[in-house]
Amino acid sequence: MPDILVINDGPVRKIRINRPDKKNALTLAMYDTMAAAIEEAGTNAGVRCLLITGTADVFCAGNDLNDFVAMATSGGLGAPIVRFLHALARCEKPLVAAVNGAAVGVGTTMLLHCDQVVASDTAILMTPFVSLGLLPEAGSSLLAPRLMGHARAFTLLVMGKPLSAADAKTAGIVNAVVTAAELEAQSLAVAREIAALPPESVATARRLMRGSVEDIVARIDAEVEEFKIRLASPEAKAAFMAFLNRKR
Ligand code: COA
Repeated sequence: MPDILVINDGPVRKIRINRPDKKNALTLAMYDTMAAAIEEAGTNAGVRCLLITGTADVFCAGNDLNDFVAMATSGGLGAPIVRFLHALARCEKPLVAAVNGAAVGVGTTMLLHCDQVVASDTAILMTPFVSLGLLPEAGSSLLAPRLMGHARAFTLLVMGKPLSAADAKTAGIVNAVVTAAELEAQSLAVAREIAALPPESVATARRLMRGSVEDIVARIDAEVEEFKIRLASPEAKAAFMAFLNRKR
């Protein structure tokens, strides 16, 4: 089974992160597949809404930490990661997320690009960037304070305090909290509702509401430069190894 499943369900393109044995941690190949699915949707009139989701008990455990270790040594940040983040920021089709469990790191920050987020009551949002010796990414240093105010964004992004689904709803990241059993149907219903609206009108309204895409892309790029420095830091390397060796 591929690690990313892309399935068109009528006008809704479902992108399922599907690597459950590694808690849906994202490899470079997975970023590339997701980026391609989002980019292609932009020019495909048949796709009117994208729906990103995970598997049974996990949405996404963030970047694969083994890849971070390799990047720390090579000194770069994989091009597929940047491609995916740019695709999210530049996406002109509405984005819905169905969060069915832990959403860690980019699993949470990708939600800040979404127009609607439906979460199961078992979902938990976490961004342990700073405790890993890293920094907030995916434009989150711009988008999170905008969405929830500086103080709450600081608690999430810098202090790394997790948000329950209910807290994420209060913070304005999540629209609706449903049971795990209801999540698939409820999120698809939201995506279909958006897909049924006049697409040009949706696109224009969305563009006006989101503000300057280039500001978001510029922030992603600035974060990437700082992130590369942090990745190579002894603090980050020690944190990755502590996680990867914790069961040995
Ligand atoms: N990168 C690589 N592997 C990961 C991973 C990641 N980000 N997240 C989980 N995995 C792997 C674990 O190493 C483990 O592999 P193993 O079975 O070969 O030992 C497997 O997925 C299951 O993870 P486990 O931690 O046992 O599951 P859990 O249910 O106890 O916890 C999480 C789930 C998501 C809370 C936990 O795995 C976690 O915190 N992951 C790291 C998240 C992270 O720091 N991401 C980077 C953010 S910038």
